Amino acid sequence: MAKKKEHNGPVTHPVSLITLVNPSSPISEQYRTIRTNIQFASSADNPIKTMVITSSGPGEGKSTTSANLAVVFAKAGQRVLLVDADMRKPTVYKTFNLNNSRGLSTVLSTATSVLEAAQRTVIDNLTILTSGPKPPNPSELLGSMRMGQVIEEAKNMYDIVIFDMPPVVTVTDAQIMASKTDGTLLVIRENVSRKESLVKAKELLNMVQARILGAIYNGAEHSNDQGYYYYGN
Ligand SMILES: Nc1ncnc2c1ncn2[C@@H]1O[C@H](COP(=O)(O)OP(=O)(O)OP(=O)(O)O)[C@@H](O)[C@H]1O
Ligand SMILES: [Mg+2]
Repeated sequence: MAKKKEHNGPVTHPVSLITLVNPSSPISEQYRTIRTNIQFASSADNPIKTMVITSSGPGEGKSTTSANLAVVFAKAGQRVLLVDADMRKPTVYKTFNLNNSRGLSTVLSTATSVLEAAQRTVIDNLTILTSGPKPPNPSELLGSMRMGQVIEEAKNMYDIVIFDMPPVVTVTDAQIMASKTDGTLLVIRENVSRKESLVKAKELLNMVQARILGAIYNGAEHSNDQGYYYYGN
C-alpha cells in the first residue's frame, strides 16, 4: 500500500535570496523587522494569517519581497505557504528552482488539493505553491468560489500564507485577493513607483476594504545599501 504522500520533492537550493545568502546583512534585518511588525499587528480578534503583497506598477519588488518575507517567517518557526498568485508573470518557481507543471492554476481549475500541488523546499517550514501553467482567465480563477476553499485549506495547514500578486493598478487580481485575505502590503520602489499610481493603488485597495498593513519601501538600486523600510499604519 502506498503511504499518503506529504509534499512533493526533491528540491534544490535557491541561491539568490538575500535572507538565505546573507542572513546577517542589514537588508535581511529589515525583512525581520517587517516580520515583527506584522506579528505585532496580528491579534486574536484580527489575526493575520493570509496576506497579499502587491505594488502599484510592474517591477517594484513584489516577488523579491514575497520570497524574502516567506523565508524570514519560516526561519522564525512559522509554517509558511508562499503562493505565486501572479499567474501572468510568475517568477517564484524560478527563484526556488521548482517545477511549475502544476500549481495554483491547477488547484483552481481541477480537484487537485493545495497539499497535492504544493512543493516543499530545503528551507524548513517553507512550502511553495507555484503559479502552475498560465490560465487564460487569472482574474476569474482568483475570484471564484474555489479560491475561497483554497484559502481555507491553506489556512488550516499553515500559520502564514503569502500571496505574490501582479501590480494592483494594472490588473484586478491583487484587488480580488486583497478582499479575501487578512492583510495587504504595498511595495514602493524608489525612482520607479509614481505618485499618481500610488494614490490609485490605495484607492483600489480601499474600494474592496482591504486591510492595508503598511508599505514597504524598496530603496536605492544604485548602492549596495538596498534598503527595505516598513511603514505600518
Ligand atoms: N532594491 C532593488 N535594487 C536592485 N534590484 C532590485 C531591487 N528590488 C528588486 N530588484 C530587482 O528588480 C527586478 C524586479 O523585481 P521583482 O521581480 O521582485 O519585482 P515585481 O514587482 O515582482 O515585478 P513584476 O511586476 O514583474 O511581478 C528583479 O530582477 C529584482 O531582482
Ligand atoms: Mg513579480
